[in-house]
Amino acid sequence: MTAREIDGFRLFAGKAGCQNCHAGWSFTDHAFYDVGLAGEDRGRGAVLRLEQAEHAFKTPSLREIGRRAPYMHDGSIATLADAVKHYVDGITDRPTLPPDLRKIALGADEQAALVAFLGTLTGEGDPRPPSAIAAQDVKAVPAEHVTSISQHDKQFTPTHAAIRRGERLWILNNDTRTHNVRVFDPKFDFDSGAQEPGETVEIAFPKAGSYLVFCGIHPKMEITVDVVRYSRSLRLSSCSGRAFGTALDFLHDSISCYSKGNGEDR
Ligand code: HEC
Repeated sequence: MTAREIDGFRLFAGKAGCQNCHAGWSFTDHAFYDVGLAGEDRGRGAVLRLEQAEHAFKTPSLREIGRRAPYMHDGSIATLADAVKHYVDGITDRPTLPPDLRKIALGADEQAALVAFLGTLTGEGDPRPPSAIAAQDVKAVPAEHVTSISQHDKQFTPTHAAIRRGERLWILNNDTRTHNVRVFDPKFDFDSGAQEPGETVEIAFPKAGSYLVFCGIHPKMEITVDVVRYSRSLRLSSCSGRAFGTALDFLHDSISCYSKGNGEDR
């Protein structure tokens, strides 16, 4: 990389705050934001029926960005230089702008450096699919018996909880961002609506079973909640204490854990 491209990367990861959303190897956190485009499109707001998610679109990856002009969901921005300029002085002020979107003052040189860095994200040859997709060795996180969960930095802590049936789960927003706690399950449908920083959401699960709880605005935020019968809870902790090799082993072992001597829970 040239010195200018490196300067651009420093701005991307630092002062310009691009990495707040374009994060990780794929340059996206897979969450939804209003980045202040002038159009009236409602984006995620229409799907979630949530005012706080109006005009929010999913952060796109920036890999191979040079091949994708025009930019943004509506193609309203023609070049990468215009995209960078949008973040400097083109943002439409609305109450839905997220705290992750900083007001940035970047001079012409800094903007050019950012554009140079974005240029490095496009490969030279034609893009090819990876020759082999390596299976990830996912280590399942053991469930912790907790009744309160914290949200911080677009993450739930812990990410795997076990509660007894009849206990409630409390989810506290310690984050700077608005969240939207959801369960979308045949046994149980739950929508917290907008959960502002400092607010707590309480969930009473109707039945024993395993539930996926996620945020509608930042869908990579997930917790698995195992709701267990009182008599089953000890057995659960011995099952979940085991280290599972792969996601498949985990599934297999959890099924055998749950099915051992436990009747249907109704
Ligand atoms: C608040 C989160 C957030 C921040 C901060 C952010 N972006 Fe984005 N970016 C997005 C979202 C969301 C979109 C898609 C918007 C749309 O399609 O309407 C996007 C789109 C883009 C695109 C167009 C991608 C495409 O395929 O159309 C580029 C280029 C881009 N951003 C670069 C940057 C740069 C450079 C910065 C830092 C100056 C930055 N972004 C900061 C969330 C963010």
